[in-house]
Amino acid sequence: MDLNELKELGLFLHFSGEGVDHSFLTEQEAELISNRHASYQQNFIRGRICAKRALESMGFRMDDLELLRLPDGQVSWPEGVVGSISHTDGFAGAIVGWKSDFQSVGLDIEKKNRVHPSIWDRVFTENEKEILLQYSKELHAEKATEIFSLKEAFYKFQWPLTNRFLGMRDVEWDIPQFFFSESISLPSYRCFLTVDGHHQIAIVAG
Ligand SMILES: CC(C)(COP(=O)(O)OP(=O)(O)OC[C@H]1O[C@@H](n2cnc3c(N)ncnc32)[C@H](O)[C@@H]1OP(=O)(O)O)[C@@H](O)C(=O)NCCC(=O)NCCS
Repeated sequence: MDLNELKELGLFLHFSGEGVDHSFLTEQEAELISNRHASYQQNFIRGRICAKRALESMGFRMDDLELLRLPDGQVSWPEGVVGSISHTDGFAGAIVGWKSDFQSVGLDIEKKNRVHPSIWDRVFTENEKEILLQYSKELHAEKATEIFSLKEAFYKFQWPLTNRFLGMRDVEWDIPQFFFSESISLPSYRCFLTVDGHHQIAIVAG
């Protein structure tokens, strides 16, 4: 996927691996992480920076933005906006768009090649494992991480619309869409995969 393709669709993205400064947060945002470990705080701040920069490119003023947390873990996005944040150690990203254009978006970032066969049974269905086994062994970790990341992005996409918990094995990826055992009504959506340096990025938007 070319990130420009997403921009043309009306999505705004920002990714960052930069160092962070606590003074970036509002008082209430800082309160959300006051008891957390330093590395979590860094990741959280990097995620908020990405989200605010992405919102800035939609026309919001950085100083007016405060992104708190709803009781279910979602971000309190400004009125009329859908969005998603993801962070791994040292790298974060955010994607946002207008609610008039998208019902929901989901973003996930993983370290590349991190999903090893030792956890396949926990996170993949039988069909997904069969798909993965069709690739040569050298590609297993890469392809497994892609599918894992797509499923995480899909979870974040579907949650605001359904409020349903779906475990890793409740959902099955089979190009170009997901299948699930429960009956869930979702708008049509598209899935995107890309890499940035050492990171695998997955996006679901619709
Ligand atoms: C909530 C969950 C998706 C977070 O993903 P993660 O890989 O652990 O962490 P990420 O850094 O990618 O994402 C964290 C961000 O997700 C967002 N988030 C949290 N809960 C969310 C929810 N219910 N819906 C949408 N976004 C959510 C938050 O913005 C959070 O960052 P913040 O706390 O700094 O604001 C994951 O922990 C989870 O519970 N998954 C459920 C099972 C699943 O993935 N099933 C897949 C098959 S559908």
